[in-house]
Parts: sequence; structure tokens; C-alpha cells
Amino acid sequence: MPEKPRKILVTSALPYANGSIHMGHLVEYLQTDIWVRFQRLRGHQCTYVCASDAHGTPIMLKARELGVSPEALTERVSAEFVRDFAAFGVDFDNYHTTHSPENEALTVAMYVALRDSGDIYTKTIRQAYDEKEGMFLPDRFVRGTCPRCKSEDQYGDSCEVCGATYTPADLIDPVSVLSGTAPVLRDSEHYFFRLSEYGDRLRQWMRDASLDRNVVAKLEEWFAAGLQDWDISRDAPYFGFRIPDTEDKYFYVWLDAPVGYLASFLNLCERRDDLDFDEYWRPGHDTEVYHFIGKDIMYFHTLFWPAVLAGSGHRTPTSVFAHGFLTINGKKMSKSRGTFITAQTYLDNLDPAYLRYYYAAKLGPTIEDIDLNLDDFIARVNADLVGKLVNIASRCAGFIHKKFDGRLAEALPDPALFAQAADAADDIAEHYEKREYSKAMRRVMALADEANRYIDEHKPWVMARNPEQAADVQAVCTQGLNLFRSLVIYLQPVVPMLADKARAFLGEAEWRWDDAASPVLARAINPFEPLLQRVEPERVQRMIEQSKPAGGDDVAEEKDTISIDDFMKVDLRIARIDKAEAVDGADKLLKLTLDVGGSSRTVFAGIKAAYAAESLEGRHVIVVANLAPRKMRFGVSEGMVLAAGPGGTDIFLLSPDEGAEAGMRVK
Ligand code: MSP
Ligand code: ZN
Repeated sequence: MPEKPRKILVTSALPYANGSIHMGHLVEYLQTDIWVRFQRLRGHQCTYVCASDAHGTPIMLKARELGVSPEALTERVSAEFVRDFAAFGVDFDNYHTTHSPENEALTVAMYVALRDSGDIYTKTIRQAYDEKEGMFLPDRFVRGTCPRCKSEDQYGDSCEVCGATYTPADLIDPVSVLSGTAPVLRDSEHYFFRLSEYGDRLRQWMRDASLDRNVVAKLEEWFAAGLQDWDISRDAPYFGFRIPDTEDKYFYVWLDAPVGYLASFLNLCERRDDLDFDEYWRPGHDTEVYHFIGKDIMYFHTLFWPAVLAGSGHRTPTSVFAHGFLTINGKKMSKSRGTFITAQTYLDNLDPAYLRYYYAAKLGPTIEDIDLNLDDFIARVNADLVGKLVNIASRCAGFIHKKFDGRLAEALPDPALFAQAADAADDIAEHYEKREYSKAMRRVMALADEANRYIDEHKPWVMARNPEQAADVQAVCTQGLNLFRSLVIYLQPVVPMLADKARAFLGEAEWRWDDAASPVLARAINPFEPLLQRVEPERVQRMIEQSKPAGGDDVAEEKDTISIDDFMKVDLRIARIDKAEAVDGADKLLKLTLDVGGSSRTVFAGIKAAYAAESLEGRHVIVVANLAPRKMRFGVSEGMVLAAGPGGTDIFLLSPDEGAEAGMRVK
């Protein structure tokens, strides 16, 4: 029974426009996109909107650091996001920005509605203020010693060592991360939203929204702790929207960010006759609204946001779908390990279909974290997508082409086997609907196993040698290709690019979910083109290498010490400079001929600006004696001379000559 067409609006969280899209973000955008594509394939009207989150202190400061306006920064970054999302097949109906006229108008209107119904009040609070920078400091911009465990250099809101939470005023010896000066406490009037009045309405919403068990558990925890009113204002300077009737107060980024969902949709409605803003955002309509988010932003989406919507005369979301965080090879993404992989670096090396499939094979409806294990990624994609799925088509297509002019047989030889695949449609659809993608993938791959078993049993490549069995070859391959086709239809939400190629190969214009139930017969198909290459492990390795920081700055974060064993490997010795001479064509180098205790060697040193060559002869220096020889433009250098100082004309390299003896060990 076909479902009645639904009208669904879907969002993903709005990415902050000051970084790059990475593998972690993609968990969310791919999870959402798969669901959206599934709904559309089922014939529902499913609209998917997103936007860049442009406001707030970090973006303002980043722009300042780069010497550009925040508008210019967020526009540039958004353009990169749009390109990355498109390359991964994320099919937004609209991608907008929160720094838009639509968003300002909607945010102000919602605020006015809340204010007029008594949900907004002002209160003076004391906050850390950086006198040098002339601004109030968000908690994360103050660091100091934890008041509880006394660990140094902790954030202003919580201690990473003992887990204590506090305010910046509680820190011992606080400093502003912006100026390095000690912040002072200063009073400022802030605007608050009476979230505390919304307990009953939020509890009701929680029951209606059929949220995941874990989300409900979190909400219960928050209800039990008591709902706190929410500070929705920030003082200038701030990149955001000014609060009406104030001179220098701005809406906190988290107030206008979710309004960005409405703004992006409104912007889309302006050019789409078939979409009506009120039908989706005012109460009393038969439409559905879903927000896909990460578990870190649940508080905003399941408490503040439904309350703000309800309080300002809007409908509340049908549900909020939260997912877990991505780890790579079992650990948090890390630059030094090369696992902080951006969308761009991935695309430079690998096909997006791999990641879409891998995430689908791992994703469920809960907030459990998901792991991208790169060895498993290679094995899984190669085994399932290439080895099982694509293999069905590549084993059958050639015969249909070579022997039957590309024509499929008139009938299926094994209708029961086809029916088995067709009958799985409802279960698979239910898995998708419930975001049980891993279950859907498992089911499809089990059917692919059946299809391959069928081909293995009938061996068209053997029958093809016997002209009398020609009709059987055509029939078996038609069976195989139809099984392949049904499975690709099921996988279309996950691997749309692959599905497009397969559909073109089968000579069809468009697929709907129900097409999987009826085979294509007695018609010509197009020549088979390879649908997907195997994942090459070297490419994955290269992607990791390219994700490591070039300068090694970040490596130092984790590896800024060497062991005593490392140190002992360095052979430091006193050397006497026998000869020092300028090098033709090199303006910084001197060529030194050193006596390192009996043996003589040549070392090039960049010290010409600091020492006249003649003045060095007969003096002593410290050298690394066991450094592997290095070929330089002017000759081979057989060691390194140690020096201290800022460089240029200030380089101090001599060791005391008194008592120094060439070849002496320094440690
Ligand atoms: N700007 C806010 C969202 C505002 S929504 C009105 C924000 N931006 S974000 O760029 O930090 O994150 C965007 C989405 O990506 C969030 O849902 C977040 O949970 C998700 N992820 C970011 N890093 C992630 C992982 N490492 N793993 C999984 N999801 C992650 O939050
Ligand atoms: Zn602590």
C-alpha cells in the first residue's frame, strides 16, 4: 500500500562558518541526506534546508585576526562548504546564512513576540571584562587555575582535569586569552528568556516527539535539575543582530542560529510556489519538521528551541534526531595523527560513495558514537559495494551485450528469487525511516549474497560456451541484472551517484522506491561502464599523510619531548675549525673544515653574517658529529655546528677555547 504523500521539512545543524567541513561533520550531513533522499524516493515532498552559522565571538575574532570583515570571512567559508557538500552529494534545497535579512527579521519578530508576552526580562550580571581589548569575555576566553583541583591553565567554565564547573570569577589567577592581561569583573545588563516557565510544555513536547530513549533520558536529567532562564544577549562588540531598543546589546548567536532554519526555508519559499512558510511553521498543519543534530547541541534543540518556537506562536519540531560523535581508528580526530581529515582532503583521494556507504553501514538511530576504522573502511567498502553489489552487474552485463545485442530476456527464470528481493522493500524502508541504516545495509547485502550465489550456481560463463544454452545465458543474466537493479534502488539514498550510473546503464529515466518490485524485461540496455573502483589502501594512506600538519607545529602538541635515549643518540663533540672560507654564490654560508679529533670533515654553516671567516680559524665549536651527511647545493655537509642566538649577525657559536680539545665529548 503506497503511503499518502507526506510534506516533510528536514534540517541539519548549521555549521559554524570559520573552519572546514571534516569527517565528523559529514556524519551528520550524510545521515540527513540519506534520510531525505529516501523520503523523496518514496514519493514524499521532502525539503532539506541548511545554512552557515555566521555569528558569535569566535567568528568575529577570527575575522579580526585575518584582517577581513566577518561578512567576508563567512561568505568565503560558506562558498567552500557549498562546494564540499555538493561533492559529497548532500542535496540541500537551500543553503543560506544566518547573517541574512530573513533571519534578522524573523529573529526580531520572535523576540518581540516573546517580550510582549512577558517571557523576556533584564538583569544585571557581573562578567569578566578585558580592559585592554575593550570587551566582555565569553567563559572560554578566560583561562586560569581550577579552584577545586588547582590544575593550571583551565577554561573559565570547567576544568578538564577534575571536571568541576564554575564561572570565570572562581578561577585562580585568571587571564584573558585575547590580551594575556587579568580580566576585571564588570556589570552589564543582560536579557533573559524565561525558560523556567516552559517545563510543562516541554514535557508535553518530549512525549509527543517520540525522541530516542537517550535523548529522553538527557531531558529527564535536565528537568530534574530544574530549568534555568536563558541569557540571550551579548554586549558589543559582537557579530550578530542588535536587539531592538538597545544601543549595544546583541542577540546571542544561539538565539538566532536555529531561527536560521526558518530563514533558510523562508528564503526558499520566496522562489518556490509549491512551498508555503506558514504551512510548515505555524501550528495546525499536516506537515512534519525534523532537525538532525549532534549530541553536543541537544540542550539548545530540545529545550531552548521548542520553547522559543512555542512562545512566539510557532509550531514545535515533530522530532529531533541526535547522533553520536565520530572517532577515527577508535580515537578523537587529531591533526598529529593525520585523522583530522577535511572534506577536501578526502575528496582529493577517495570517492565520496565509499564514505556514504561506510557511514550508512555503521549508523543507527542512537547517540552512540561511531568509529571510522580505516582498515575496516577499506575492507568493508571493497567487500560490499564492489565485491558484492557491483559484481552482480559486471558478471552479467557483458553477456547481454556480446551475445544478445544488449537485450534482456522476456521473462525471469526464477521469479521466486526476484520476489524475495522485492518483498524486502517494506522492511528496508522501515529501517531507513527509523534511521536504522546499518540494518538496511545488512539486509541489502544479504540479498546481494543471494544474487551472487544464484549466478555462481548457474555459471553463465560456462553455459556461454554452448550455443544451445544461449537462451539460458540471457535468462540468467536478466535475472542477475534485475536483482542488481532492485538492490541499487534500495541503495539509491546512500550511493546516489552510483545509482545514477546504474540507472543510465539500464536505460531508465527515474526510479521510485516501488520500481524495485517490478523487473525490467524484453528491452535493450546500455553498455556497461565500471560503476565503482576498489578503495586503494595507498590512497587512504596518502590522505592521512596529507592531513598531518606540514610545519610540525601541531605535532609538537603531543610530541614535544624526546626521551633520554633519543638525546643520548646525539653525538656532541668539540671540533677545532681548521679552515673557514666563504662559498661562491652563497651569501649566508661559510664552509668550515673541522678537526673532530683526528678526522677532518666539511660542514656548511649559515653564519657568514656573524663571523668573518679568518676570525674563526683555530677556534672551537660544538658539532653534532653523527649526523648523516647531507648533500647541499655547494657540496656535502658532514655534520652540524651548534649555535645560539636570534640569527643574522647575532649567532653565538664558539665554545671556550681554553681547555677545549678537538674530539672531546660534550655530554
Ligand atoms: N553552529 C552550531 C549549530 C547551530 S544549529 C542551529 C554548531 N556548528 S558545528 O559546526 O560545530 O557543528 C555542526 C554539526 O556537526 C553539529 O550537529 C555537530 O554535532 C556536528 N559535528 C561536529 N563535529 C562532529 C564530530 N566529530 N562527530 C559527529 N558530529 C559532529 O554546532
Ligand atoms: Zn580541576
